[in-house]
Formats: sequence, structure tokens, C-alpha cells
Amino acid sequence: MSYRITSFDQYKEQYANSVNDPENFWAEIADSFHWKSKWDKTLEWEFETPNVKWFVNGKLNITENCIDRHLGQHRDKTAIIWESNFPDRENIYLSYGELHIEVCQAANALKSMGIGKGDRVCLYMPMIPELAVAVLACARIGAIHSVVFAGFSAQALADRIEDAKCKVVITSDGLFRGNKKVELKKIVDEAVSKCSCIEHILVKKCTYEEVNWNKQTDIWWDDLIPNQATVCPAEEMDSEDPLFILYTSGSTGKPKGVVHTCGGYMVYTAYSFANVFQYDESDIYWCTADIGWITGHSYIIYGPLLNAATTVMFEGVPTWPDGGRFWQIIEKLKVNQFYTAPTAIRALMTCGEEIVIKNDLSSLKVLGTVGEPINHEAWEWYKRVIGENKVPIVDTWWQTETGGIMISGLGSFSPQKATFAGYPLPGIQPCLVDQNGVEIKENGQEGLLCVKFPWPSILRTTYGDHKRCKLTYFSSFKGMYFTGDGARRDMDGMYRIIGRVDDVINVSGHRFGTAEIENAINESEFVVESAVVGYPHEIKGQGIYAYVICDNIPSNYEMARLEILNTVVREIGPIAKPDKIQFVSGLPKTRSGKIMRRILRKVAEGEPDKLGDISTLLDPTVVSEIIKGAL
Ligand code: PRX
Repeated sequence: MSYRITSFDQYKEQYANSVNDPENFWAEIADSFHWKSKWDKTLEWEFETPNVKWFVNGKLNITENCIDRHLGQHRDKTAIIWESNFPDRENIYLSYGELHIEVCQAANALKSMGIGKGDRVCLYMPMIPELAVAVLACARIGAIHSVVFAGFSAQALADRIEDAKCKVVITSDGLFRGNKKVELKKIVDEAVSKCSCIEHILVKKCTYEEVNWNKQTDIWWDDLIPNQATVCPAEEMDSEDPLFILYTSGSTGKPKGVVHTCGGYMVYTAYSFANVFQYDESDIYWCTADIGWITGHSYIIYGPLLNAATTVMFEGVPTWPDGGRFWQIIEKLKVNQFYTAPTAIRALMTCGEEIVIKNDLSSLKVLGTVGEPINHEAWEWYKRVIGENKVPIVDTWWQTETGGIMISGLGSFSPQKATFAGYPLPGIQPCLVDQNGVEIKENGQEGLLCVKFPWPSILRTTYGDHKRCKLTYFSSFKGMYFTGDGARRDMDGMYRIIGRVDDVINVSGHRFGTAEIENAINESEFVVESAVVGYPHEIKGQGIYAYVICDNIPSNYEMARLEILNTVVREIGPIAKPDKIQFVSGLPKTRSGKIMRRILRKVAEGEPDKLGDISTLLDPTVVSEIIKGAL
């Protein structure tokens, strides 16, 4: 690809160009894609509103760039390799030519169900090839996809369906995840019964178990799709038309729908994929994320396919049937670029080195990590045991809202330092500010991480609530996008991400708002009030620590605990279950009624001697009770 950087000197040169003349810089990169008609202005922006438009009035369809454009040279090249949950099942290989047919058929099926440009379609699916096909089918006809991770509960799914007013849900009878089975259709039925907007449920067979069937609304994927025409014209989309909505948690109770648009997202995910992973034409690339998260959107589907790459999709989990699953797949498929999360690395470290070195990992050229700060020990282990000290690690910092990787090494030529994400990608202008929003210009300092200039895949809005987008990201510091993260820039100008500075906890790379979990806990029968904080967790990065005040406590606390856990599973899903629940009679509050989380955090972190000033508390005696009962 013409936009591939091949040395650190070239990176520095490109970085300088991208800052001195961002518009020309991005216009040149955007020229490598197929536009139905060219943009007439590269960038229009104002962070105050916020209003950001890239490639203004440009017309395109991202699927033509992901698929059709490659059919001449790469029709028979494998686009997607699917690896089943079950190690003994054969891989599925989908070539670009086959992907084209499947996407067109699914797109025509959606059309036959009355779906068109601008309609929202919810995807609640296992990690099967049909999920990638469904994503691209939506994009083909200009429908906006909203993928919801198939680990969320019926209630959480219903909230997301309702918020986006989706007309169709695509799901499956069920899914396999390790030795667990999840009845997805049952969950969807429950969710849909709480919504008024769903017209149809399209169901792929996966577990082949019986499901409830409503003849009016339900359609089998396997009946509808194969009969469709294998050609479907790609809808002409404006560069700024929404491509998808992806819900993510913030510091308030309700998850928000981050909106990404067609043109800028395409240019940035393609550019960042090619450069961070240094993808060569015949490489096999594997990102272990789920497509339910942004990493799966940008770096399983869009980024790789835009570069005519071969991308692996894995249905299972890293630790089943044993902790060698990832390494066996790398050997079997001869994976060249491997991209995973620190939480998976930490979990697999506990399985020992024997299970790793049994496999031939010599195909690896780049190892990536994403989702949370990687600790020293995990970084060293990844480097030494998986990379045999020969493979570079790219620690990629980014967010759902940024659409693509922002700070990271590029393949093997960027300097590497354990626990440091490194330098910004070309086009990205990060900065550190203090609490008052004053930029910290010297190196060797810590501060709040902001970005001063728009990049093509910055979020455009939060669905149905532009004010919230402005408030959350563009109001803390004038003229800047605020990430919610704290960071340090060392004397070499490299960034190390410290973690969230807002009320967001990052559990195994999954984001939750403390308020979101508290709202769920408070739905339990016996709960009066709760406060949730994060604490360091050996495998998950952060664990969830809940302080709970109960009323009418049942005969024992164990029952209350179970009731709380069940409620969280019902309201959000098993991924948000608190790791620790401490029952308390009061919470540390200021005279104005605000919970002093700083105190709760220190207790949860096992540092009750570092509480600082507690004189502003309404009732300081609750603190000693909390310390005494700490888990
Ligand atoms: O705190 C940062 C952390 O994950 C947050 C974004 O979460 P999400 O939108 O779910 O996206 C995750 C995948 C892109 C960030 O605000 N984070 C992500 N990557 C890193 C990271 N923290 C440290 N190092 C990283 N490489």
C-alpha cells in the first residue's frame, strides 16, 4: 500500500508533514481509495460544537473498498479464516470472491426485509463468519450497524436496541464459548419483548438447538440468504454518513452510542492497520478481540479488509480446552501478526511456559496489545516467551471514540519500552494538560491526556444526544478532545498510559461506568445504596469492588450477595459481576452528599493508611467501619 511507512526516519518525516499540513497529508492517503466522487474540502472542524467533517461531500461505499476493489488481483486470496471454538473442527476459508457473494446476498436479504439506508440493525451474534458478513452487508446498503457483544444481558441488549431504534436484530440460535453454551435467541426474544421497534429477527443456525419461533417476526438466515441474488450494488454514501453505532460506557449510568462515519473511519483504520502491524501481502493476521468491541470492528474487519489482508476470526476463548489454544492456532495457521489484550496474556502466563514452547511460533513478526495498560511482568513475558525476544511488541493505545490506534509503535522500527505505548501515529496530536487545562509542554511529566487536532476517525457524535458528546469529550478543556485517561510523557517524548481518571473501570479490557454498575446493584431487592470502585486485579487489570448498604437483610449476607450478583447479571451481564461485595452501614459522604470515592478506592486498594484528608466528611466514623470490614 502506498501509505505504508517503512522506517523510523520516514515516520518522523510523515509525522512532521501531518502536523504542518494535515489536510494535504490526509488527502494524499485518502486518494488511495475508491471514491464514487471526490471530496471538495478535506476538513471542516470546530471542537466547541463539536463539528468535524472529513472529505466533505466525498461519496463512497466502504465495502467496495473492503471487497470489490480487491477482486481483480485478490479474488482468490483468503479474506477471512475462521477458527471454531472446537479445536477439531476444520477451518473455514472465505476468499475475497466468496466474501463478495455472501455480503451481497446478505445485503439483498436485508433489503427484502425492508431495511435501507440510514436504518439501524442490531447484531447480537457469536464470532462466526456470518457476523463479519452481516456487518459488511449493512454497510453495503447504508444501514447503520450496532453490534452488541453477545455477553450482555437481555436488558442491556434491549436498552441498546431501543436507544438506536433498530428495526432488525441478527442473531443465532445460540453460541459456544469454551465449554459454555449461551442461548442467544432466547435472550433476544426477551430483549425484543421490551422493545417497540423491532420488525424482524434474523437467526443463523449455530448450535442447532430448538428455539422459540414467532412466524410473524422470525426468519432463518439459512432459509433466506442462499436464495438471494449474488450481486448487490453498493449504496452511495456521503463521507459523513454514519457507518455504525457502538455502545460504550462512560461515567454516567447509561452507555452511549458512539457514532463513526464512512469516509474518515475508512481512511484511518486502513492507514493505522497497515502501519502499526506492518502487514505484508501474504501475511496471516490475527486479532483475538470480539467484534462486539471496537477492536473487532477496526482491526478484525475494516482495517485488514481495506488492505486486502487475510484476517483470522476465532470463535472460542484462550483457556479452553487448555491454555495452549492461542499458541496452537498460531502454529497451525502460521500467524504473522498477533494482537491480543493484557488480560489474556496475564491469564495465559499462569499456565506456564511448557504449554507455549511446545508450539512453533516462528511465523510471528509483530505482537500487539490493546485495551488496558500492560504491566511490566506481562510485557516481559510476552516479549520473551511468545516473541522469543525477537518479535517487536506494539502497545496500541486508543478508544472506542477514537475509532483507530492513536499511540503505538509501528512494527519493528519504532523504539520499544516496556509499558510505554510510545509515539503518536502521524496525524495524531496528543498533549498533556493539568487540572486547569494548561498544556504541560515539558517532557518527563504526567497529566491528563487530550488531543488537540481532529483525526479522520474521531467520533462525530453520541447517537441521539449530541449535547452529551460535547459535554463528555469537548467541554473539560477548551479546544481539545479529552480522553479520560492520565498519561506520562518521558524524556524521550514517549507516552505511557496510566489509566482512567474518570469514573470508568476497565475490567479485562471492558469498560464500565461505576454508576452503571451501581444502578444495576441498586435494582436488587435488599439494596438501599451502593458505591463501586475499581481495584488492582492480578488477571483482570481492575476488579470491581462494591460497597453496599442493605435494608431488610435476609437471614444471611450470602443470600444478599447472590441476589446482587444475579441482579447485575440480569441488568448488564456476567462480565460486570462485582469481584468483591462489602456490606456497610454507611458510605463516606461530604456534607453536600457526594460520595468520596477516593476513600473507597484507597480501602479497596489495600491502602487504608493513605486516605488523606477526611475532615470534610459528614460522618468520619463510617470510615473506620469500612476499613475494619475491608475484604
Ligand atoms: O483507558 C484506556 C484503555 O482503554 C480505554 C478505552 O476503552 P475502549 O473504548 O473499550 O477501547 C478499548 C480498545 C481500543 C482507554 O481510555 N486502553 C486502551 N488501550 C490501552 C489502554 N490503556 C493503556 N494502554 C493501552 N494500550
